[in-house]
Amino acid sequence: MNQNIFNSFPVLETSNLILRKIEPKDAKDLFSFLTDPAVSQYMTNAPYENIVQVQRSINGMQQFFESKQKIRWGIAKKADDKIIGHCGYFSFDEINLIGEINYCLSRENWGQGIMTEAIMEIVRFGFEKINLNRVEAKTIPENIASLQVLEKAGFRQEGLLREGLLKNGIFHNLYIYSILKKDI
Ligand SMILES: CC(C)(COP(=O)(O)OP(=O)(O)OC[C@H]1O[C@@H](n2cnc3c(N)ncnc32)[C@H](O)[C@@H]1OP(=O)(O)O)[C@@H](O)C(=O)NCCC(=O)NCCS
Repeated sequence: MNQNIFNSFPVLETSNLILRKIEPKDAKDLFSFLTDPAVSQYMTNAPYENIVQVQRSINGMQQFFESKQKIRWGIAKKADDKIIGHCGYFSFDEINLIGEINYCLSRENWGQGIMTEAIMEIVRFGFEKINLNRVEAKTIPENIASLQVLEKAGFRQEGLLREGLLKNGIFHNLYIYSILKKDI
């Protein structure tokens, strides 16, 4: 795994999007969609209750980046640079060159292909720059939009992790998806 990517935050660009570092000034924009129950219902972390928690999370992600453990990009349209979602690698298996992604997008931006575009770019970055061999994603079977995004981005469903997630006191099954360097 190429640790050099953590030397300075890698800004990525697609046809329509900028994937950039999330700054403290973005807290209000993040708060507006992270507290939307439609967005948080399938996310594994507990929903945010106030803006201070979001600010802490931004600082926490900065520390994870500096300690070379995780990377999260803020997603903005090129037109206005406002953060409308995020995506990134929240864990790495350095021995086996595997990264696991997660992602979310504000509701008013759903269904325009934005997350497919963002995920394809971070997967490309994962293979070409981080030197990963495999990128994984896990998702609750009921989260149809997430399954669709992964399939459109070229991931393959590998199986069901039975009761792989405990959320709000309830166990949920998870589908596991992957894409390999040789797949693209
Ligand atoms: C999952 C999510 C990121 C998708 O983002 P998006 O930018 O809307 O995704 P895209 O537009 O690239 O693709 C979504 C696809 O799912 C389809 N879709 C969306 N909701 C659907 C539904 N309820 N049933 C069937 N298809 C659905 C869309 O039609 C689209 O497919 P198409 O391009 O073939 O029409 C977004 O819905 C989200 O943030 N959800 C909440 C957070 C979350 O669940 N994150 C993932 C946790 S693992």
